Parts: sequence; C-alpha cells; structure tokens
Amino acid sequence: LLTTRLCLLLGIEHPVIQGPLGGPFEIGPELVAAVSNAGGLGSIATTVRTPDQVRADIAAVRQLTGDRPFAVNVTRRPLDEAIVGAVLEEGPAVLSLALGDPGDLVQRAHEAGCLFMEQVTTVRQAVEAADAGVDVMVAQGGEGGGFSGSVGTLALVPQVVDAVAPIPVVAAGGITDGRGLAAALMLGAEGVNVGTRFLASAEARVSDEWKLAVIRAEAEDAVKVDFAEHLVPRPSEGGWLTVPRALRTTFIDTWLGRASDVAPRADELGAELMTALGEGRAHEYLPLAGQSAGGIHEILPAAEIVRGIVTEAEQALARFVAVRDEDG
Ligand SMILES: Cc1cc2nc3c(=O)[nH]c(=O)nc-3n(C[C@H](O)[C@H](O)[C@H](O)COP(=O)(O)O)c2cc1C
Repeated sequence: LLTTRLCLLLGIEHPVIQGPLGGPFEIGPELVAAVSNAGGLGSIATTVRTPDQVRADIAAVRQLTGDRPFAVNVTRRPLDEAIVGAVLEEGPAVLSLALGDPGDLVQRAHEAGCLFMEQVTTVRQAVEAADAGVDVMVAQGGEGGGFSGSVGTLALVPQVVDAVAPIPVVAAGGITDGRGLAAALMLGAEGVNVGTRFLASAEARVSDEWKLAVIRAEAEDAVKVDFAEHLVPRPSEGGWLTVPRALRTTFIDTWLGRASDVAPRADELGAELMTALGEGRAHEYLPLAGQSAGGIHEILPAAEIVRGIVTEAEQALARFVAVRDEDG
C-alpha cells in the first residue's frame, strides 16, 4: 500500500487530496465525502459561502463520512473572519489556506485542534509559511486550474521540498492520474492535490456543460485569464498575486489581452460574470480548469478517481523498478 508521512499525519489511507473547488457555485458535500470515504482527503471550499452555509456543509460531510478526516479551505480575498471563526469552532481535521500569508491562522488552527495546510506558488511564500509553522505545504504550479502562479509544477515542487524540509509537501497543478502521483513522489512530494480531475467527477454539482467542456478540452484551451483581476476578488496582500486559469469561452476570447478595455467596464462585466456563475453558466463565461483538462476523457465517480490514481501510481513505480532490474 502506497503510504507516505502525509498519510500518517492526516490519518488518511491514500496520499490524494481533492483540492477545494470554490466560487459562486455549489460543488456540494457529496464530492468531498466521496474522496474522504475512498481514503483520500476531501476539501470543503468556502469562497462565496456564508458562515451558516459553511457550518451546514461541514455537517453534511460529517453525516456522509462519519469521523473521516477532511479539510476546510479559506482564502485571503480578503479573509472572512466570520467564516474562519465558524470553521475553527467546527474543528475539521485540516484548515487550509490559499492566496495569502498564514499569519496567526496557524496558531489559531492548532489551538482548535486542526492541522494547517498552506498552498504556495513560489519558494519565497513557502519559506514564509514554513516560518509560520504550517504542517503541510501544497506547492501549486501555474498549469493548475483556478488561481495559480507562473512557475510550473515540475520546477516548483522540488524547489519547495528543498526549501521547507522536513515539512511534507503536496504537489498540485497538472495532475490527473497515477503517473502524476508517481512523478510527484519522485520530486520529493508526499502526495498530490487534484482539482480539475475532481471537477469532472460524477459527484461535483457543477453543470454538465462545464464537465463536458473539461472532457472535450485540449490542454492549450486552459488559458490564464489576464483580465480577471478587474472582475473577481484578488488576494488582498502583495506578493500573492495569482491569475486564474480557465477554459476558453466566447467571453474570455473577447477580452483576453484587453485588460485595459475591461478596467473601465469592470462593474458592468463583473456583475454579468457573477450572475452567470451564480446561475450555473460558468461554462459560458469562466469555467475554471487547468491544463490537465487535456488528459481527462470521462466523468467518473470520485472514489474511482482516487482508486485509479493510487493503483496506477503503484504500477508506474513497480514498472520503474522492473525496468531497472532488467538493466542490471
Ligand atoms: C473551479 C475551481 C475552483 C477552485 N477553487 C479553489 C478555492 O476556493 N480555494 C483553493 O485553495 N483552491 C481552489 N482551486 C484550486 C484547486 O483546489 C487545486 O489546487 C487546483 O485545481 C490543482 O490544479 P489542477 O486543476 O491541475 O488539478 C480551484 C480550482 C478550480 C478548477
């Protein structure tokens, strides 16, 4: 059985984390629960949720999973203190943060009995987060879906591993299958954090059109949406600037490379965008997804995705050993 220190720390069987999938749409507790029940770690996103909704999400996941571990994610866009308070009261196994300096959140999480997982996109952020005492680091490459930086996963992961050892690092961005997990382990990571692959799962409550767009996309259709800074909330602190990656739509094609034209119309276009996302029409506007979309060809139940990643990784690692033995 493929077990890493990450599994022991988080109390999970497989080193596979479902990355939080947040926004003005509802991903639903079924996906989170399915991943945790399959032995991975599911993540509840809190973006555009109220504290009461977050409490209900946590209760729903607990109802479906019993006492299995899961994560709840917050972001600094800006940080919503009411949501942080609700999450810490509920005390999930893991509090995860993206898009900002952890600050005193690490200590508060520890006081509430939660482990703290920080997503970083540069080595500098990783070093700062290590100094703040985080328990697990997610190194997210720029090919990832949602908000990511500019450094690719293959370059970033080993650099973060070296910079923060012995803190366990999880690789994110571009990973869909067991080859990705095997590669991540070779880079020194102890697991993977996967977003787009789980977005196109049976349990994710997003529209079928969004899932089908993932299935049909080529990797190069997942573009960095350079004008999004004018339309969606951004991290409130310097040094954590990221640009969302989404599948091309008519809306994106119309405005890509034209941030200066979008800026004066930010209110009108931003309202149009948020309405569309809230109505389940992300696929017409901003279907967040990573370059990994090019390698996703079917919509599967989340448990099958977890099992596939683990089995394929074991096979990939065994193949590598077998080839080496043949050589010599
Ligand atoms: C639709 C969507 C929404 C996301 N929302 C969040 C979020 O709220 N918080 C967060 O930390 N990461 C978020 N992410 C990033 C994912 O959790 C994950 O880190 C990323 O998708 C990994 O790259 P991959 O898509 O190549 O697997 C989101 C990604 C997508 C595709």
